[in-house]
Amino acid sequence: MTDLRLFPKIELHLHLEGAAPPALVRRLGAEQGKDLTGLFDEGGGYAWSDFTTFLAAYETMSRVFEDPETYADLTEAVLREQAANGVVYTEIFLSPPSLFGGDCGRWEAMRAAAEAGADRVPGLACRFIPVVIRHHGPEAARTGTAAMLKAPRGRIRGFGMAGDERAFHPRDFAGCFAEAREAGLRLTAHAGEFGGPESVRAALDDLGVERIGHGVRAIEDASLVARLAAEGVTLEVCPGSNLALGLYPSLAAHPVARLREAGCRVTISTDDPPFFRDTMTKEYERLAMTFGWGEGQFAALFRTALEAAFCGPETKAAVARRLDGGAGSLSSAENEGPRT
Ligand code: ADE
Ligand code: ZN
Repeated sequence: MTDLRLFPKIELHLHLEGAAPPALVRRLGAEQGKDLTGLFDEGGGYAWSDFTTFLAAYETMSRVFEDPETYADLTEAVLREQAANGVVYTEIFLSPPSLFGGDCGRWEAMRAAAEAGADRVPGLACRFIPVVIRHHGPEAARTGTAAMLKAPRGRIRGFGMAGDERAFHPRDFAGCFAEAREAGLRLTAHAGEFGGPESVRAALDDLGVERIGHGVRAIEDASLVARLAAEGVTLEVCPGSNLALGLYPSLAAHPVARLREAGCRVTISTDDPPFFRDTMTKEYERLAMTFGWGEGQFAALFRTALEAAFCGPETKAAVARRLDGGAGSLSSAENEGPRT
């Protein structure tokens, strides 16, 4: 395969704020008079050195996206970048500050802005997954979830949790996940990134999620790997993110291939690409170089991700055609609806 940028891809794990181009953040920060001291490095990228400083930089950067107009522009910019990397279907995590304020009106304005931004980008279909932030605590999660569930859904199909896995316990958020499930949303949670196998087990048992964000540290417990495979739990694996955040020294040492070989349902995403100087194309190129993966493996990744996607059958059927070379079959009209 010559140009992996062109290979059709599905991305299930991307944070909208985390995908913000640094140049956009710098411009908005200057326009809004926000203090972004220390946010950028000398090359103009985001400055951080470990998971804790990454999360702090993420929160600083997110503050330039507090009004709907900026949120729409952000969504458009992120989707255009994904389309340029061959992504034909994507599910995007939303965590604007207003999700946590419990202010239903503000949340709704931000959600509608993200919809408007998505409407401007033809050629790929997208769905949204609001996420609560674990280290903001259970009370913030509860009020944010309640506000989100009162508002219209639009492209929202799932609900999840991101943030610092070392803070609190999944059971502290069980009520939010139960309400989201009751409301018909599909569930995913970050686990097995900075927490070990017990953290993945807790996400499955206490939150009832069907997908795990990352989940790679399940590899440390063979019985958990067997359970993930047997139960068909999908892992949203983000190898470039894991390498950048120091979980593994190299892709060769990363468990992505071993998890697949053990029968786990593995998908590939970028998480927060500008923070990690990553793109979906680079992810695929590294997998090809390191593990010798080619069209067969990439097509299998596509099918696994499509099966695990939270959209409905009509959208899945339209997206499936893209793998067979139906480049024109997913028009902007498909992105706008039917939103199954
Ligand atoms: N939010 C954005 N990126 C994240 C990551 N890699 N882990 C947890 N929370 C996040
Ligand atoms: Zn993530």
